[in-house]
Amino acid sequence: MTQTNARIDEANRRLQERLMHVSRLAAVGEMASGVAHELNQPLAAVANYAQACERLLGLPNPDLEEVRDALRQITAQAVRAGDIISRLRGLTRARESLGELTDVNVLILELADLIESDARLHEATCRFELGKGLPPIALDRAQIQQVIFTLVRNALEALNDRPPGAREVVVSTARAPDGDVLIEVRDNGPGISAQILERLFDPFCTTKPAGTGLGLASSRTIARSHGGTLEHRPNTPAGACFVLRLPPPARR
Ligand SMILES: Nc1ncnc2c1ncn2[C@@H]1O[C@H](COP(=O)(O)OP(=O)(O)O)[C@@H](O)[C@H]1O
Ligand SMILES: [Mg+2]
Repeated sequence: MTQTNARIDEANRRLQERLMHVSRLAAVGEMASGVAHELNQPLAAVANYAQACERLLGLPNPDLEEVRDALRQITAQAVRAGDIISRLRGLTRARESLGELTDVNVLILELADLIESDARLHEATCRFELGKGLPPIALDRAQIQQVIFTLVRNALEALNDRPPGAREVVVSTARAPDGDVLIEVRDNGPGISAQILERLFDPFCTTKPAGTGLGLASSRTIARSHGGTLEHRPNTPAGACFVLRLPPPARR
């Protein structure tokens, strides 16, 4: 490569990085009011349940079971608020040093127990189709595992509408012709609802009553911070398929 080409490449790479950073900041700005709104709900619920506890305990013969229920609600809402915050952190985190070279199949096998017990809870089955000869990827293990788990959890939640015998999630890996590693999570659920298809990866885009709408947004941020992509395509004959594409170090 000539020196000029190398310089243009370097300039392009810098520009790309700045664009990523700016678009992340833009997303954060857009989110600020959303965050206030999102956190307001669990916080208001916590305050309500706490007041209820105080009132119940002030009665001559307090029903402790009712108090316990209210306390459980407080815990659940606090966990939900914490979840929103930790996902936001994932969304705003700047590019970090990318950890060790990793075999993504090993990464997925480490998660297999967790995924399988989650699948059992949702009365679904999960199948693993791990490809051979994958190049090692330099990655942040916890972040990529978080992405895979988010995609599997979404698939399982989407399958709740289907009869228990017919709920299947497949996690597969393959080497793309260009050398990238592909991690796919697909299900045979109803697929992405047409109303949100265009905003699917936007923060706070959710169709679930208690959803945060941050799973796919933070997953895409993580994919991009690894020089990769996260895309959706419809599964055949039905359902959704999410493809996480990660380039090996030589192609980054
Ligand atoms: N596998 C899937 N099948 C159908 N819809 C999905 C699937 N994964 C995601 N979605 C849709 O995308 C929305 C956003 O997902 P996500 O960002 O993880 O937020 P949340 O799960 O909190 O709603 C979901 O509310 C759901 O409508
Ligand atoms: Mg989700």
